[in-house]
Amino acid sequence: MFTRLAFPLVLAISLLAPYHVAGAPPPTPSGGLGTNSSDVPMYVPMSDFDFASLTLALNQELIELDLFNAGLAQFSTDDFQNAGIGPNEQYLIQWMGQQEVGHAQLLSNILSPNVTTACNYTYPFTTVQEFIDFSMRITRLGESGTFGFLEHLDSRASASLLLEAISTESRQEMIFRQLEGLFPMPFWFTPAITQSMQWSYLAPYISSCPSTNPMIQWQNFPSLNVTNAPNVTALLNGTQPTISNNESTPISQPGTELMLSWDSPGQQVGPNLAYNTSTSAGTPMWAAWISQLNTTYTPLQNVTNNTATTSQPGSDGIFGNGTAPTLNGTIFVLITDNNPFVTPFNLSLLDQHVVAGPALYTIG
Ligand SMILES: *[C@@H]1O[C@H](CO)[C@@H](O)[C@H](O)[C@H]1NC(C)=O
Ligand SMILES: *[C@@H]1O[C@H](CO)[C@@H](O)[C@H](O)[C@H]1NC(C)=O
Ligand SMILES: *[C@@H]1O[C@H](CO)[C@@H](O)[C@H](O)[C@H]1NC(C)=O
Ligand SMILES: *[C@@H]1O[C@H](CO)[C@@H](O)[C@H](O)[C@H]1NC(C)=O
Ligand SMILES: *[C@@H]1O[C@H](CO)[C@@H](O)[C@H](O)[C@H]1NC(C)=O
Ligand SMILES: *[C@@H]1O[C@H](CO)[C@@H](O)[C@H](O)[C@H]1NC(C)=O
Ligand SMILES: *[C@@H]1O[C@H](CO)[C@@H](O)[C@H](O)[C@H]1NC(C)=O
Ligand SMILES: *[C@@H]1O[C@H](CO)[C@@H](O)[C@H](O)[C@H]1NC(C)=O
Ligand SMILES: *[C@@H]1O[C@H](CO)[C@@H](O)[C@H](O)[C@H]1NC(C)=O
Ligand SMILES: *[C@@H]1O[C@H](CO)[C@@H](O)[C@H](O)[C@H]1NC(C)=O
Ligand SMILES: *[C@@H]1O[C@H](CO)[C@@H](O)[C@H](O)[C@H]1NC(C)=O
Ligand SMILES: *[C@@H]1O[C@H](CO)[C@@H](O)[C@H](O)[C@H]1NC(C)=O
Repeated sequence: MFTRLAFPLVLAISLLAPYHVAGAPPPTPSGGLGTNSSDVPMYVPMSDFDFASLTLALNQELIELDLFNAGLAQFSTDDFQNAGIGPNEQYLIQWMGQQEVGHAQLLSNILSPNVTTACNYTYPFTTVQEFIDFSMRITRLGESGTFGFLEHLDSRASASLLLEAISTESRQEMIFRQLEGLFPMPFWFTPAITQSMQWSYLAPYISSCPSTNPMIQWQNFPSLNVTNAPNVTALLNGTQPTISNNESTPISQPGTELMLSWDSPGQQVGPNLAYNTSTSAGTPMWAAWISQLNTTYTPLQNVTNNTATTSQPGSDGIFGNGTAPTLNGTIFVLITDNNPFVTPFNLSLLDQHVVAGPALYTIG
């Protein structure tokens, strides 16, 4: 307890604290992890969870490395120029490819000697705009997938390195939005997803891998399509790359009826078709929307076999009226059998309820 005399004294000391006495030890508030000299950083996986998460991240970095270079090789400088993407922006995409060399090297160093090397990939784009849109989706997947597990790693030292890679990837994601002519960041927060959600979305784009690559240990959920999703490349036809714009034109409005279609489990997917889709969920009941800090549910309607409709939510503010909407920018949609309350740090509790997904949906 402070006495009347002690309180001003403590206050005076705390005000003086920044003016540090030479030779005195630095201030050491209690708590914190990994900050004392006996904690030697170990930049290695410290559990199966770490190994499986970091191997997934390396697969993600390797597809990005391939993708950025593949897009530059597939289209001529004229094709790019016709999409408003000049030599300076093409150089920027090339630079992003080089960043991926560094990110893949970082993760390979951590995972050595059990490293994943480059695979063959299959891409869904035939135009420059589609290449840019796909790259935006893949970098979204990378940032959200990594944000989902970073703080759960046993190896906090490895997490600190990966954080420095993934924050660079978030810049890539924003630049692809700008190259597409979209508002650069129509959100306050970047959402997190689980490893199984990331792997489910990524695996179909990896066609074959060297047999020495370790198997991915996360689940492959059945795929989900929004069959009437707005065609972003058609809507943005004629839109020039821009640093920013008047963000008042949404691609899709709350209340839009989505038509959803998903696969049954048991499909062979991923590298060498060596993975099988599966689910532990029961009857499909909900669409789960993961965006910003929030997981929102809307009921499924017209459920027949593997199709349903649902209504696009999004009018709630994250922190109430007058704050940013719970959905915008990066939005993952899944089919679930239940609607448990989850928050970013315990999102993995949702995995057991996933029937299919995620799909990536764009509303702005
Ligand atoms: C250093 O931190 C670890 C926990 O990270 C703790 O177990 C250990 O006692 C600390 N050592 C010293 C000298 O404070
Ligand atoms: C990629 O595909 C080529 C052609 O089919 C094949 O020769 C090569 O082995 C594949 N590479 C990997 C890493 O799967
Ligand atoms: C590599 O990791 C996989 C998956 O954990 C494991 O099955 C395999 O034994 C490991 N190989 C080596 C050489 O450590
Ligand atoms: C989207 O629109 C573009 C341009 O009109 C077209 O080439 C492409 O096939 C469309 N994509 C889908 C999935 O319908
Ligand atoms: C973009 O719009 C123009 C007409 O304004 C049309 O000729 C062209 O085919 C469209 N391109 C795509 C990819 O839809
Ligand atoms: C942006 O668009 C809205 C709605 O059309 C308009 O009210 C606003 O003035 C515009 N802002 C700027 C900076 O052009
Ligand atoms: C989402 O962001 C876009 C700008 O990219 C904006 O036009 C749209 O109104 C936003 N949607 C909602 C529901 O706030
Ligand atoms: C989703 O769309 C992709 C690409 O058009 C298609 O290959 C796949 O079969 C579709 N899946 C479902 C479940 O509709
Ligand atoms: C789906 O259900 C809603 C509400 O029950 C209804 O308004 C809508 O017309 C239905 N859509 C289809 C495609 O059946
Ligand atoms: C649902 O699937 C069953 C079995 O495959 C089929 O007989 C039925 O016609 C399907 N229903 C609809 C509405 O497509
Ligand atoms: C969104 O998530 C944040 C963080 O968990 C929470 O504080 C906020 O209440 C949520 N907003 C809504 C509308 O659910
Ligand atoms: C938010 O706005 C709606 C409609 O404008 C109103 O009904 C509701 O009471 C408001 N909520 C809060 C928490 O102010």
